Amino acid sequence: MKLGVIGSPIEHSKSPEIHTNFANQFDLDLVFDKYLVNKDECLEWIKSFFESGGLGLSVTLPLKEVVLEIADDISLRAKQAAAANMLFLNNGKIYADCTDGLGLVTDLKTKEIDISDQKILILGAGGAAKGIVPSLLKENPNQVIVANRTLEKAVQLVAQIQELGGSQMKSSILMPSSLTLDNLENTSFDLVINATSASTSPDQNLEVDPSIFKGTAAALDLYYSQADTSFMKMAKEQSVAKVYDGWGMLVEQAAESFSQWTGFKPDTKGLLESRGA
Ligand code: ATR
Repeated sequence: MKLGVIGSPIEHSKSPEIHTNFANQFDLDLVFDKYLVNKDECLEWIKSFFESGGLGLSVTLPLKEVVLEIADDISLRAKQAAAANMLFLNNGKIYADCTDGLGLVTDLKTKEIDISDQKILILGAGGAAKGIVPSLLKENPNQVIVANRTLEKAVQLVAQIQELGGSQMKSSILMPSSLTLDNLENTSFDLVINATSASTSPDQNLEVDPSIFKGTAAALDLYYSQADTSFMKMAKEQSVAKVYDGWGMLVEQAAESFSQWTGFKPDTKGLLESRGA
């Protein structure tokens, strides 16, 4: 079974070790490599990967949007995210799916962090935010506010998701805001999720006011790293009880992709514990 992960940069990717752990649980003979693939060569590269016996690919930055162009079938959740994090050759056709949102929801449930009836603040309105918001909305939150430095992008993201999602994405639940949250002064959030790219480079400062954590029970950065991100540090300084990085989500989105490729549902417990999640 030939699988892999593509993106640029790719050296840091933990996908090979995660999928090898899963394969070992079922004694599967599986090859999972990481490949440095750039945007301009990506579609040709994917075509030849599948022509030469490849079964599935994980897709990471900056290829998550462009890979949709080569897909024969696109799942609803990938359409809603306008991005895919996995490709799968099924009956000769390339299927694109986005398992990030489900990965996050599974991780939150494992960590016993409630979504249903909760007020949730999402920071950022780029690809990462788009990938998770539809899945969170399915869990019946009380409210999801998408706050972004550039307000216009938050407005656009909310409109796009509402357009594709129908009545489930009611505007009373999903609302855009600027990062300064000026219009939400008296709102406190049960859960705050950092979906900005600020954590990806150490010299970037996340431009939010620590008061967003007033009354917050849990904070999660979608980014995974050995050290606390500035978002995580801020949340801890504000006494948020549960603060996590994106390791759990990474493992759970991988588990969902693996199940689709192989038909085997892996146990994620060992990997989650190995990072103290
Ligand atoms: P990704 O695919 O990782 O989401 P992206 O589509 O480039 O990447 O989006 C990055 C997001 O992080 C954007 O919402 C961006 O805000 P702007 O739309 O205002 O650019 C946000 N972001 C990046 N750096 C940030 C920072 N230092 N403070 C706050 N928001 C930041």
